[in-house]
Amino acid sequence: MARRRSLDALYALTMAQRTFHLPDSPLSSPGDGDAVAADGAPTEAGQRPGTHLVGGLLEMRRQHGKAPALSGRRSIDPIFRPGDLDRLTRWCDPSDPRQLHIEIGFQYGKFASELCMADVGLRYLGFEVRHKWCNEAERRMDKAGVENALIALVDAREVLGRVLNEASVDAFYVFFPDPWWKKKHARKRLISPSFIADVARWLRPGGRLVVKTDVAEYADLAEVVLRGETRFEVTRLDDSSAGLPLTRREVGCARRELPTWAFEARRCIDPPDDEPSPPSP
Ligand SMILES: C[S@@+](CC[C@H](N)C(=O)[O-])C[C@H]1O[C@@H](n2cnc3c(N)ncnc32)[C@H](O)[C@@H]1O
Repeated sequence: MARRRSLDALYALTMAQRTFHLPDSPLSSPGDGDAVAADGAPTEAGQRPGTHLVGGLLEMRRQHGKAPALSGRRSIDPIFRPGDLDRLTRWCDPSDPRQLHIEIGFQYGKFASELCMADVGLRYLGFEVRHKWCNEAERRMDKAGVENALIALVDAREVLGRVLNEASVDAFYVFFPDPWWKKKHARKRLISPSFIADVARWLRPGGRLVVKTDVAEYADLAEVVLRGETRFEVTRLDDSSAGLPLTRREVGCARRELPTWAFEARRCIDPPDDEPSPPSP
């Protein structure tokens, strides 16, 4: 209870930053009030779950949308090619001994390509909502000779729950996520308590989520939400590279001497079932 109160206080502090609208209930449970209507206005909780996704719901897009021109042997389109969901499921097979690293919002694919070449023994899975970035990443990966990547054109939140098993991912990377400044768009932000709870569930004990941003308000939001997840041990990193290849945006920030923030959320090892829980304060 005390922990909850201090998180609320920290959250209230970030609320003071008026230009960065925050969803009304940042510490609500998964699915609570996630729905927004097509014009972005909140609907009754649960009425249209999932409409906060970038690009809209999978079923809705299948019905009304047009398949984008996606090329490349690593690219999959789970929205317009339903068979691609099977390929995605096989790529995430928990019995595959290779590590599974997932990046959300890879854009140019610079980090992806360099990570894959630095460790050819891992499985990389990238998500992007714009097809031009998938094609760009394909070109970059072709040039580098990447053989251990799969990239999906879809909002990661739409499909991860369908293809991932509990404790099956070694690393999640969320680098410079879109801040969605406008109040009516704030619900599209990737970092939310419900999504972070899912990430904690999908990570193996000892696995980590790395979040980077160049938006001070988003850094505050991320820190509050990550620290609110009790399965995480959260560190604000002094070395914002986190020992990883840099993203294109990160290079741009460094060149212009702009500040960036990075957090590592490490999935704690679960206590054994028979261990008594600590007394509450
Ligand atoms: C500001 S850019 C950062 C790109 C890159 N990570 C970097 O650091 O250079 C954010 C990217 O995330 C993508 N994106 C936003 N929301 C997404 C989501 N829910 N799932 C997948 N990609 C997303 C956007 O299309 C965009 O390319």
